[in-house]
Amino acid sequence: MIKKAEFVVSNTNPEKCPKPDRAEIAFIGRSNVGKSSLINMITGVKELAKTSQKPGKTQLINHFMINDQWYMVDLPGYGFAKVSKDTRENWEKMISTYLTKRTNLCGVFILIDSRLEPQKIDLEFLLWCGTEGVPAALIFTKADKQSKTQTDKNVKAFLKKTEEIFEEAPDYFVTSAEKGQGKEEVIGFIEQLVEE
Ligand code: GTP
Ligand code: MG
Repeated sequence: MIKKAEFVVSNTNPEKCPKPDRAEIAFIGRSNVGKSSLINMITGVKELAKTSQKPGKTQLINHFMINDQWYMVDLPGYGFAKVSKDTRENWEKMISTYLTKRTNLCGVFILIDSRLEPQKIDLEFLLWCGTEGVPAALIFTKADKQSKTQTDKNVKAFLKKTEEIFEEAPDYFVTSAEKGQGKEEVIGFIEQLVEE
């Protein structure tokens, strides 16, 4: 259960993040996929993480303290075309350094837009996590935007693609920040990760 959620600090430099003295989980995915909205939904704090209709809203590594016990982290998105190449490369470097160097990171959720067919950039990112040893699970977002049949079809297609990469399919969840769908499942999974 999440009883308390507070903003701690924002950083561009992964080395300046809070002392890695407690469990941490992070949310990543394409710009605008719904990372910040999902954080607000699962913590139950409406404007904890800043959201926007426009992609590219989250530009820093944002730490939130949950239940005075563990960290939840909101990251910038990957694959956002409308910023300069330099900016994009800086974000990508910041994200990859954070994900590979953060010693207290127990899990990363890769958010996938449930409206779309499997996207190369998401599959490549998942593969990168695998090769770097970053423990990743999937969250399919925005399930309220189309029928369950359509969501199921896209989820199934994505999972099928992951079979070409991994022997074991990754853990996955289907969510809607709008409707609160998937909240208990995601929290239950995180609790297992941070308690291990
Ligand atoms: P960046 O920080 O720019 O990388 O984006 P983000 O992944 O944090 O996305 P954000 O949470 O800011 O949401 C982007 C847009 O999608 C906003 O307009 C949200 O209201 C909308 N959105 C996010 N999740 C959902 C959802 O589950 N359902 C619906 N209908 N809209 C959503
Ligand atoms: Mg964001």
